[in-house]
Amino acid sequence: MVLDSLARIIKVQLPAYLKRLPLPESISGFLRLTVSEWLRLLPFLGVLALLGYLAVRPFLPKKKQQKDSLINLKIQKENPKVVNEINIEDLCHTKAVYCRCWRSKTFPVCDGSHNKHNESTGDNVGPLILKKKEV
Ligand code: FES
Repeated sequence: MVLDSLARIIKVQLPAYLKRLPLPESISGFLRLTVSEWLRLLPFLGVLALLGYLAVRPFLPKKKQQKDSLINLKIQKENPKVVNEINIEDLCHTKAVYCRCWRSKTFPVCDGSHNKHNESTGDNVGPLILKKKEV
């Protein structure tokens, strides 16, 4: 039943519709179309534009914004959320420096990678520095 209807549309109704379209035989013929002819032509041209777009879309460059919006590019990507917990009591030095740029190779400890990132991107990120008061 469904295939019958589909076959009728493709074999009978679509060719009849296409035959009735006021397609000009040259580019300049488009300039001579009346408003009502343009209105009859618009749905067909819209479908052609949509099909053309869908055909070339896989070859269009991907949006760069998505990649740029990521902060963490490589640290523990297998985890749904990267959380580091550090007990204040465990801070044995008077100063601890933690990464906030997500580029450190010793994450969560800062290794200075933020400097290279800032130079190459114009960003201004830096580490979190925890200092212990000396009593
Ligand atoms: Fe990330 Fe220093 S390496 S803040």
